[in-house]
Amino acid sequence: MIKFPKDFLWGAATSAPQTEGAALADGKSPSTWDKWFEMEPELFFDQVGPNDTSNVYYQYKEDVALMKKMDMNSYRTSIAWTRLLPDGKTLNPKAVEFYRNYFQEMLDNGVEPIINLFHFDMPWWLMEKGGWEARESVDHFAFYAKTAFEQFGDLIKTWATFNEPLVHIECGYMGDAHWPKVRDFKRAIQVGYHTMLAHAKAVEAYRTNPHNDGKIGIILNLSPVYAKSEEPADQEARHKADLIYIRSFVDTVALGYFPEELIEMLRESDLLPTTIAGDRAIFENNIVDYVGVNYYQPLRVQAPENPVFPAQSPGAWARGYNWPEKRINPHRGWEIFPEGIYTIAMRMKNDYGNMPWFISENGMGVEGEEQFMDENGIIQDDYRIEFLEEHLEYLAKAIEEGSNCFGYHMWTFSDCWSWLNAYKNRYGYYRINRDDNYRRSDKASSYWMKNVINQHGFTR
Ligand code: NOJ
Repeated sequence: MIKFPKDFLWGAATSAPQTEGAALADGKSPSTWDKWFEMEPELFFDQVGPNDTSNVYYQYKEDVALMKKMDMNSYRTSIAWTRLLPDGKTLNPKAVEFYRNYFQEMLDNGVEPIINLFHFDMPWWLMEKGGWEARESVDHFAFYAKTAFEQFGDLIKTWATFNEPLVHIECGYMGDAHWPKVRDFKRAIQVGYHTMLAHAKAVEAYRTNPHNDGKIGIILNLSPVYAKSEEPADQEARHKADLIYIRSFVDTVALGYFPEELIEMLRESDLLPTTIAGDRAIFENNIVDYVGVNYYQPLRVQAPENPVFPAQSPGAWARGYNWPEKRINPHRGWEIFPEGIYTIAMRMKNDYGNMPWFISENGMGVEGEEQFMDENGIIQDDYRIEFLEEHLEYLAKAIEEGSNCFGYHMWTFSDCWSWLNAYKNRYGYYRINRDDNYRRSDKASSYWMKNVINQHGFTR
């Protein structure tokens, strides 16, 4: 039997912009996603935009009933900044009412809401002032965080500041999957710096109010880095990629400082961000209570071919490498490597003082999932059950070896809108039938997981 602790958190994760819909209803102002869809709908898969997601704003009670049906004890979603404070300053009473009802509904059904503050949804009014590139965004975010703690702190005891900060930095400033889709490494570093500072300021805002008696952390996408070979150049590439993709985030939130070696690397390439005296103390004094880890696939690297300095991209230090033994998710193309969850779990134990952490996302996206629907309308997602079994087995092993992991949340609860990919890849325990009033229907994995939750484990 693969066993998990009795008080383990079992649940699923999602976010406000990916599920709520009602993108401009009841006083909500537009985020970059709402505006971007208005400007270039053709970039979004099937032209489905953020107003047309899973309709949770109106159907949240159905979802909570399904959480209860699965016996989940926790659930992560986010608050939309643009709903709570449409102009950044004025509280929207409709938003307060919606979120209080939604969170209370979960609590009444034995589900602990874990609430994140920023899930890629930059308010448009702030984007127009420069978004995370502008220093003022840090204080705007701290104000938003403080407002959320005041409005919902009695209901919410586990908070997260950001989801996957690397992603809005990389996809928005070193690629074109997020707004403002520019490619500029130096600007990306500044965006990253302000994001991390905004995170630390939100932690500070939480701690300075004696009524805030819960935990606060951050959710990071951590891909363990593996090198192509034992050759020193490949090992060096692994070390550098690890500094950029893992330690720049985890060291900063869990130890309170950016790694010196990273600072040196950036200095040599004239990439250091603009900072203000006093920032350092904000990081040092506000380390997190826990880290949420999103794990999907590892990062495989080799030495750069012809490194050009000053660096224009992280490729100057490491480049990707296609592992020949790679197992690929045939429905999405991402690598499936369950051992990666163990590598990260032991890293949390050994390098970060056995800090409490949990799997805040892990899951399998599938394109064209309707092909697996049986005659009763249930999606027979054996591939997802196998994925869960394999990852949970490695997680249980790490816990047995002392890693301080307190929960597992699959991405996602019911299929949701995923940015430019919209509904292309479905990840949920429940299907959303969008053309049938967003009706929720079962997948076999929800029954399987309910058993795991009730038995605190499973047999393979
Ligand atoms: C991570 C992100 O947090 C989420 O928004 C996204 O939809 C999933 N990964 C799947 O790509």
